[in-house]
Formats: sequence, C-alpha cells, structure tokens
Amino acid sequence: NQHSADIQAFSTDNAEALEQFRIKYLGTKGIVKDLFDAFKQVGPEEKRVLGKVLNEFKQLAEGKHQQLKEALAAPAPHAVKTDADLTLPGEGFTLGSRHPLALVRREITGIFGRLGFTIEEGPEIEDDWHNFSALNFPEEHPARDMQDTFFIRKGGENGDIALRTHTSSVQVRMMEQGKPPFRAIMPGRVYRNEAISARAHCFFHQIEGLYVDENVSFADLKQTLFYFVQELFGEGTKVRFRPSYFPFTEPSAEMDISCTICKGSGCQLCKQSGWVEILGCGMVDPNVLENCGIDSKKYSGFAFGMGIERIANLKFVIRDLRLFSENDVRFLKQYTAAL
Ligand code: PHE
Repeated sequence: NQHSADIQAFSTDNAEALEQFRIKYLGTKGIVKDLFDAFKQVGPEEKRVLGKVLNEFKQLAEGKHQQLKEALAAPAPHAVKTDADLTLPGEGFTLGSRHPLALVRREITGIFGRLGFTIEEGPEIEDDWHNFSALNFPEEHPARDMQDTFFIRKGGENGDIALRTHTSSVQVRMMEQGKPPFRAIMPGRVYRNEAISARAHCFFHQIEGLYVDENVSFADLKQTLFYFVQELFGEGTKVRFRPSYFPFTEPSAEMDISCTICKGSGCQLCKQSGWVEILGCGMVDPNVLENCGIDSKKYSGFAFGMGIERIANLKFVIRDLRLFSENDVRFLKQYTAAL
C-alpha cells in the first residue's frame, strides 16, 4: 500500500529527519502501533491473511530505520581521521624575487626600447674575428691584453676561440648579418681572467648599444645617452664626456654622471670627485664598418657599452660584486619589493 511505498522511497542523512521517521512509523503512537491495534478488532479469518501482511510491513519499517541509522553512524567515505589541529593557520609560501641584475637590465632595455632600439644577442663563446679582429684590434696589439681573455682553443681554422670579453662582438655579428640602419642594444654575459674580489670578477654583464644610419653624429650619441641617464637616474643628473681610447671607436669617450649619492658634492662613492664613470662610447670606427661590409662613406654610427653590475651598484648601493653571483637569499630577497 501507500505506506510501504513511502517507506521504501524514504532516505535521509539527517539524524533529526530519521527520528521523525521513527516516531511516525514505529513510535508508541505510530502507524505500526495503530495498525496492530486495529488488527485486534478483526475476525480470525482475516487475522490469518492480515497478520502476515502486517508483520512484513513492520519489518520493512524497522529494516529501513536500522539501515539509515547505521549509515548515519558510519564516517563519510572522504572523512579521514587525523590528529592534526585543523584550526591552525596555514603555512605561508615564499615568493621568489627578480635578481637585481635582471631588474637593472630590464629597466635599461625598457628605456632604449622606447627610443626604438631592438634587443639582440650573440654567443658567449666567440672567435677571434668577432671579439677582436673585426673590431679593429691589430694582431699582436697590446689592446688584446687589456682584456684578459679566457682562451678555449688557440690557433685553428677560424683563429683563437675564447669566451667573449665584451658584448661588442654582437655589434659585428649584427652588422655582418643585416643592412643599415641598425639600432639595437645587446645585453649579455662577458668573461675576463681577473682575480675575484669585491671590485672585480671573472664574469660580469654588459649592455652594448649600436646605432648606424646615414648622418649619425656625435651629437646624436650625446643626446641619446643624456636622455638615457635622465630616465635611469632621474631628471637633473649631469653627464660629462672624457676623451678615451677603444680600437673600434674614433673618437672615443668615457661618460661620467654626477654622483648618484652626493649629487656631485663629494662622497665616498665618487671618491670626493662628484663624478662616477658609467660607460665607454664613441663613433664606430670606419674600419669596423668596412670589416662588416658596410659602406663607411655612406653610413656612420655610434656605439656604447656599459657594465650592468656597475649600474646596479649605483642604483642599489651594493659594495661587493661577489654578492651578485653567490645566490645568498638574504641578499636576493631584499629585491622582492622591486618586482
Ligand atoms: N667594449 C668596451 C668595453 O668592454 C665598451 C665600449 C663599447 C666602448 C662600445 C665603446 C663602444 O670596455
């Protein structure tokens, strides 16, 4: 009958609802009790038939109640017993930070990017031609010793193979492979055979710049670098150019900026001079253009190169070069905020 169908369809995972079910069917005023009371009133003939039906009904109700009660008492399948205190706060996770050299490189490439310079890269293992000869270093010239080279192989078909001593080698590769105008900056790691100390390392990082087109002048060089310094170190930073020598530029210069700490009034960083040197630069020597297959009558250009560590030292006041490559997290995590 209807009650049997209701009982079969019934299900719950709620203790309160199950108790309601018990009271409704099995309670002292429940349906089963009522039916048994009524049963007493019928005649013996009907008792035989009804007795069986009634017993089956009672068992159905009791069975259902028992089944649901056991299901309620059993732990849910996904609940794992644990002694852990689930109210404790979770463990925080540490976020990495960008390396200060990467931060500075990104800032510099960003500034030149806004001036229309593209980014170029070249190999760290270089041949003599790209690192020296094409850049106008004469054979046996002492300038080759100026940069203490790590040689990988002496002699051989393409001359000596070495770790590049500067990113100027990328200038050569770029000019050999393309056609003017060139306007690019070239970041990368360079190697020099020097004793490691607070002020020198056997590898460091440079950013090279090259601009070659018709009618490029020293005035373009000065204005480009002046703008760069205002962007990187802030408006009002002064620049000055001192005559210098590089085999691959003529004329050549070194550029100083007014000291970032004392703004030129004299401090320890600038050794009381008020100035700090930040890069080498000059007009690309016509010999270099010709070595790379570029008509030096038609085209001229400027180039510059700077050490990224040097710039980072000025921006972050880092006094020991070795910190950059020791991977000490106490050092590295200071730059988290700069992300
Ligand atoms: N290559 C030079 C150095 O490593 C820097 C430089 C680059 C100078 C380009 C002039 C022009 O010192």
